[in-house]
Amino acid sequence: MRRAVCPGSYDPPTNGHLDILERTSGLFDEVVVAVLINKSKQGLFTVDERMEMLREISAPLGNVRVDSWHGLLVHYCQQHGIQAIVKGLRAIGDFDYELQMAQMNQQLTGVETLFMPTKPPNSFLSSSLIKEVATFGGDVSHLLPEPVHKRLIQRLGRGD
Ligand code: PNS
Repeated sequence: MRRAVCPGSYDPPTNGHLDILERTSGLFDEVVVAVLINKSKQGLFTVDERMEMLREISAPLGNVRVDSWHGLLVHYCQQHGIQAIVKGLRAIGDFDYELQMAQMNQQLTGVETLFMPTKPPNSFLSSSLIKEVATFGGDVSHLLPEPVHKRLIQRLGRGD
């Protein structure tokens, strides 16, 4: 069984995240999408809400499971028999920190990280930027899966 994890904050999941999940799901027998805590980021959605959204949007893929984890990603991989971490890379700006984490994770337990280039139409997407644009009334409906957009608008109290 070839298993991969796609870890992230997913606050909330974007079209860019969904694209990486879809493509990873075609390469592995099972994909776990894991909501992890990024200590440098303040959350808009609870971990449970993020998991609900991820379940909804990944259900059609068939081999994607949603989970959460408070702790080191490498320990999650060890406990769940996961051989690979898959990370989407948008642009060169992502590379420095992602490389550092990949090398740290590899030397901690031997788990490998695979970088998947994002599709160009998603290369400028980030959950943080989408939240900022939506907060000030910008239209982000084309950047998020429809159920996620609905929840974001509700959360921001805009109701449109
Ligand atoms: O979506 P993000 O915020 O870019 O995801 C980053 C995340 C949550 C995947 C990363 O911060 C992480 O792996 N956190 C778990 C804790 C951990 O293992 N830290 C050591 C990394 S070398």
